[in-house]
Amino acid sequence: MHVTVVGSGYVGTTLAASLADLGHEVTAIDIDETVVETLNDGSAPIHEPGLDELVANHAGDRLTATTSYEAIPNSDLTFLAIQTPSNSDGSLDLDALAAATEMTGEALTNAPRGEGRDADDRHLVVVKSTVAPPALTELREALASGLGTHDVTAAADDSDGNAADRVELATNPEFLREGTAVTDFRDPDKVVFGTEAGWALDRLESLYEPLTAETDAPIVRTDPETAMMIKYANNAFLAAKISLVNDLGNVCKEFGLDAYEVMEAIGLDDRISERFLRSGVGWGGSCFPKDVSAIIAASREAGYDPALLNAAVEVNDHQPDRLLGLLDDHVDVADKRVAVLGLAFKPGTDDTRNSRAIPVIEGLLDRGAEVVGYDPVATANMRERFPDIEYAADAAEALTGATGALVVTDWDEFAALDEELETMAEPVVIDGRRAITRREGIVYEGLTW
Ligand code: UGA
Repeated sequence: MHVTVVGSGYVGTTLAASLADLGHEVTAIDIDETVVETLNDGSAPIHEPGLDELVANHAGDRLTATTSYEAIPNSDLTFLAIQTPSNSDGSLDLDALAAATEMTGEALTNAPRGEGRDADDRHLVVVKSTVAPPALTELREALASGLGTHDVTAAADDSDGNAADRVELATNPEFLREGTAVTDFRDPDKVVFGTEAGWALDRLESLYEPLTAETDAPIVRTDPETAMMIKYANNAFLAAKISLVNDLGNVCKEFGLDAYEVMEAIGLDDRISERFLRSGVGWGGSCFPKDVSAIIAASREAGYDPALLNAAVEVNDHQPDRLLGLLDDHVDVADKRVAVLGLAFKPGTDDTRNSRAIPVIEGLLDRGAEVVGYDPVATANMRERFPDIEYAADAAEALTGATGALVVTDWDEFAALDEELETMAEPVVIDGRRAITRREGIVYEGLTW
């Protein structure tokens, strides 16, 4: 099939390259010329394991990039994978996505009738960006305004093959994790199609057929709004699961118990499962914090304040303070060198967005500490946020002469730290991820154990 993907960020690039790899002809559209050039030169504009290889394999062949929306009418469907930044109240800023949606409509209108569309002159626009269900109304309006018509089907009044079916807005949320996005795409837990139009569903099924044929992934077929709610509920559930584990973990710590021993046992209950039970300094990244805040904001807007989701955020915000509080119990860090081990929001990525390292560093600076950070790949990103703290080339350098070390990201290499810990001025290690194995001869505190 001929596919257009608008937006070449983490999601769009992974999608475009993976669809090309499935055998489709893909055009990636991005307003940033550097991004377009990078893609056409055969490299990925973002860091994601395996993505460079996919782009290199297909660039110039089944994958081409452009800044122009002209490719849209010549494709069977268009994915919108545009960023939706958060407003200060957690709600989403839809301006860029709505603008891209409108431009997609305009591109379809300007094209000669029938060109690139099927015999019935239909085109499918698929929202990949995560937006709250009520926001789809705004996107339908943007598309209709671009088309210069009011013929974009609303989910409710979809129907019977009249002119209103010419352009359909569907949703197809993604469940990719940063760091494993390429393999997650190829081997999903589920594929969710949000459309009520039969022809649109057929088109999505054909698109994914090479993938669904080779995995056992169940296909969930639903309406566009429900599909987006599935994405939010999925992320909110996982974020709340970790927050609940962290809340229970804090209780364990107060009782002098080991939360990991407790969670290992409850994970044996298959209604709970052993995954996402690692307690510690909390969740970060670009998805959980943003998605939980966005669904809370959208729900409040609709008149319901979701108590459990609020609590999930509150527990998460509190975990870095608990970590710092444990350090305070052992040392006064004013004017002392303190190492922060791990700056990325999780191992395997250089992404520092909403990393728990940010409130931890802020807390240390408030205490007057001299902060030295270390991360195997995320230093450059954190330097943009904190240009004035010191960054070490390796963990050993960060630890040398430090009074206290805080472990924020569970990079595997931290498990091997041993003699390096003896080079500290005062070997007080507060572990927020249960990453350190050496416990003897140092002061060691686990956040929830
Ligand atoms: C998450 C979801 O897992 C994906 O399914 C979803 O597609 C994605 O958001 C998205 O919406 O785009 P991601 O943010 O890449 O993916 O990372 P996760 O591996 O889910 O980790 C999120 C945070 O939870 C990290 O800060 C991690 O350290 C923390 N975490 C995870 C824990 O604290 N404990 C755990 O047991 C698991």
